[in-house]
Amino acid sequence: MTLETTRRGLEELLLPPGTESVPIHFVAPDDESALGALGEAGKAWVAAQGWKPSQGAVLLVPDGQGGLGGVLLGTGGSDWAAEVPLLTGALLKALPEGDFHFASPLPDAELAALGFLAGSYSFTRYKAANAAKKRRLVLPEGAERDQVLSLAEALHFGRDLINTPANDLGPAELEGAARELATAFGGTVKVTEGSGLLSDNFPMIHAVGRASDRAPRLIDLRWGSEHAPKVTIVGKGICFDTGGLDIKPSAAMGLMKKDMGGAAAALAFALLVMRANLPMRLRVLIPAADNSVGGNAFRPGDVLPSRNGMTVEIGNTDAEGRLVLADAISLADEEAPDYLVTIATLTGAARVALGPDLPPLYADDDAFAERLAAAGCEVGDPLWRMPFWAPYDKLLKSAIADVNHIADGPFAGSIVAALFLKRFVGKAKRFAHLDIFGWVRSDQPGRPKGGEPHAARALFHFFRQELGSS
Ligand code: BES
Ligand code: MN
Ligand code: ZN
Repeated sequence: MTLETTRRGLEELLLPPGTESVPIHFVAPDDESALGALGEAGKAWVAAQGWKPSQGAVLLVPDGQGGLGGVLLGTGGSDWAAEVPLLTGALLKALPEGDFHFASPLPDAELAALGFLAGSYSFTRYKAANAAKKRRLVLPEGAERDQVLSLAEALHFGRDLINTPANDLGPAELEGAARELATAFGGTVKVTEGSGLLSDNFPMIHAVGRASDRAPRLIDLRWGSEHAPKVTIVGKGICFDTGGLDIKPSAAMGLMKKDMGGAAAALAFALLVMRANLPMRLRVLIPAADNSVGGNAFRPGDVLPSRNGMTVEIGNTDAEGRLVLADAISLADEEAPDYLVTIATLTGAARVALGPDLPPLYADDDAFAERLAAAGCEVGDPLWRMPFWAPYDKLLKSAIADVNHIADGPFAGSIVAALFLKRFVGKAKRFAHLDIFGWVRSDQPGRPKGGEPHAARALFHFFRQELGSS
């Protein structure tokens, strides 16, 4: 799916204000006044169905002629916008094809419209039937059409990248996606590939990716004025993670097409920044590689050189993400950006700590961390701060190299990975690291099961507030 077809598909779903359409009423358990609009027959129908307005519950209500007269959406409470900002996405599991509008007051019109469009996502690349049903929404008052479209477009774009299996999305295809994006918005892309990674001093990206017959590469996208604040995002682009020689068990490997979720989120963020023309000098760095098994694979016990000169002892080849990120971070750091952010499906331990829907956020700068976390909460793309806990840094000690890339015990895995990355940051003025899941395990309102570019909207909202629009 190209960027343009994604955008056009979404444009068709958002109708101009005033279009004749079926009303959607939001119903809170303690306030059923919305039912008043249904008339006596409608109210009798609700009672006959035994329908209760629990959060995300949907009821279709007939009109007098056997047509669809209205739709009820249970909010589960009066503060639903804070609890489930994309609640309107729950409608899509029940709505037939047709045109709809929100007939109740909305706490946040932009998020209400976004929830609807985000919930309408389906992955259509291999199964055309997934695209069949068109549910359209009248743009609610108070929402800006272009902004809603861009937010939905970024989600759909990131989801498509993650959902595309590794046989159709390798390092070259990830590069293609970055190029398509850059071309659409007047950015540039520079790629260092294969043995060029050795000659240009990215030894760890090369070591991780060399066992695949699809060449590893570092994708470097730039956009915006060199005089604007420098924002650099590094996204983990492991197109498939077998674990390498310390191979993953099959249950853990099954989902590893999503191990480029950080790259997808970084590109989704880039799309939002470029569409909104935010005043920043944006740079997206994606180390893209397959972590494969092969005769030339890197091994546990190897000591790798790294871009910044540190030697790195390999404890387990399945901790490949931090290695490719480290070389990209070193490059990013060389120009002392104002903001440096890494986004990566980095550890299983992050899910143990905070679960699949709440990515850990690491940052030393308190004000930066607080504002970023607050921005995420405001737009329903939450992040939760965890510490760069300095006393754990000694877990990375190696007897034979400058640093080990993993601890030798099972504890604090997400923190230890974050501390490893931090070793490669020196000159960047602010640094944040986001350990995302990149996946939704079962349907949630506005988040269908499948790939999810976690943190892209949170970051965009943060920078939209921080830098304002030009
Ligand atoms: N890509 C995985 C982490 C991952 C697993 C993210 C499952 C989301 C869901 C990463 O490369 C990895 O394998 N990490 C290991 C590190 C360990 C070997 C220190 C992990 O978390 O088990
Ligand atoms: Mn791994
Ligand atoms: Zn991985």
